[in-house]
Amino acid sequence: MKKIAVIYWSNMGNVEVLANHIAEGAKKAGAEVDLKLVGDVKPTEITNYDAVALGSPSMDNNRIEQEEMEPFIKEIRILAPNNMPVVLFGSYGWDNGKFMEDWITRMVDEKFDVKGSLAVKEAPTAEEITKAEELGKLLAL
Ligand SMILES: Cc1cc2nc3c(=O)[nH]c(=O)nc-3n(C[C@H](O)[C@H](O)[C@H](O)COP(=O)(O)O)c2cc1C
Repeated sequence: MKKIAVIYWSNMGNVEVLANHIAEGAKKAGAEVDLKLVGDVKPTEITNYDAVALGSPSMDNNRIEQEEMEPFIKEIRILAPNNMPVVLFGSYGWDNGKFMEDWITRMVDEKFDVKGSLAVKEAPTAEEITKAEELGKLLAL
């Protein structure tokens, strides 16, 4: 059974909705899933998982959240094994997903295996919620 972490930061709940559905999708596909706020996870815990989904809003000038998610990413890039499967997800207000494009590029550069991504404008639509579940399933494969 695959062990998956869904780790996210959310202020108003939009990213949290995506996190919940990614976790649900992964569980339905038979994975053991831990769903956690990034502030509650030690970077070293990343090595306990086969795959990880990371979620953030676009914040502070079209970047991932800078107080908790940014330092977490900096730490796990050293700790995670090369080609660790990852899914990136998040929500933006006005950047049309630019923060996500930048995040994907960065994670690929850091030798993560980016299996998929989802960036939504504010609250996810029903169709985007279905996509979130599919991303969870993808990670569990
Ligand atoms: C303080 C703050 C800064 C934000 N900065 C950006 C930004 O730079 N670019 C952008 O596209 N959206 C920005 N947003 C919009 C959020 O990304 C958007 O509302 C998102 O859905 C929030 O996710 P959450 O509900 O999980 O907190 C900002 C929102 C807040 C509250």
